[in-house]
Amino acid sequence: MGKSVENFEQEFAAYCGVSHCIGVANGLDALILILEAYKQLGHLADGDEILVPSNTYIASILAISKARLSPILVEPDDATFLLNPKACEAAITPRTKGILPVHLYGQLCDMKAIGGLAARHDLLVIEDSAQSHGAIQGDKRSGALGHASGFSFYPGKNLGALGDGGAITTSDDDLATAVRALRNYGSHKKYENLYKGINSRLDELQAAFLSVKLKDLDADNARRRAVAAEYNARIRNPAIILPQSITPNAHVWHLYVVRCSERNRLQHYLAEHSIQTVIHYPIPPHHQQAYSEWANISYPISEQMHAEVLSLPISPVMTSAEVESVIDAVNSFS
Ligand SMILES: Cc1ncc(COP(=O)(O)O)c(C=O)c1O
Repeated sequence: MGKSVENFEQEFAAYCGVSHCIGVANGLDALILILEAYKQLGHLADGDEILVPSNTYIASILAISKARLSPILVEPDDATFLLNPKACEAAITPRTKGILPVHLYGQLCDMKAIGGLAARHDLLVIEDSAQSHGAIQGDKRSGALGHASGFSFYPGKNLGALGDGGAITTSDDDLATAVRALRNYGSHKKYENLYKGINSRLDELQAAFLSVKLKDLDADNARRRAVAAEYNARIRNPAIILPQSITPNAHVWHLYVVRCSERNRLQHYLAEHSIQTVIHYPIPPHHQQAYSEWANISYPISEQMHAEVLSLPISPVMTSAEVESVIDAVNSFS
């Protein structure tokens, strides 16, 4: 927690358009610490319900469980993969205290609708921005679209360190003060401990790397958009459903996720053509052994997505020839 962390925190807060950025060890800790801080401030209590999409990466849900809150899974919008505000509204109970929208695959959720819903029901909005660094909705960036936001800087992210890292962004002064203490053994002042905190520091070296890489984030996202635009325009295969992007700036294409009813055969076919693909994610959270209490609940939209999704290669360093070979291979699949 030296000068490089402090510099990066200031730069990233300014980039996101918020008053505070607090560096932490990883994205999961970022979400846990936000929720813990809200508990310390008296805004949340053990067992309160937090709405979260049923098709997210498990870390979003683990954070809620780790903070001893109750994750309530909400089915996503079938076309965009994103949290569905109408389904959220239907899931609200007197115990609901927050919504955790996940900007999955790099596309921002409809934060206007979610913000309106939260205001009407007096709910906290905690963004999971682990996949959406730099995405813009209206005139605000990911990280400034809720009450607080958690970021991951895992190396594969749009803004990635050279090892693990994470951050919390917020314009709530009280929350920022509580999170700063909680990430540092619960201490505001050396050897004085206000909370039972943890050690979750952003490493000084990683912060220095992040400051360098932040300068390239917008250009990297522009290149990702250009690759996605090529795929959108030129992948023509009736067996494949292309991803939907609502407004161009709201998507930073962390992943380019297509759907195919014969997903496993498609993945095998592309591998034979030297194209590596990944499934994000093969098992829905409610079918994970860690959440065996949900084993008998059905989330059909999420289940179908998990059976059909496949992430094609996308990155700011892809060459035009590489993009071309992906398009040719996908179009030749039958
Ligand atoms: C949506 C989402 N939330 C949270 C996380 C957790 O971030 P980290 O791996 O830095 O703990 C990830 C990371 O992969 C993620 O994709």
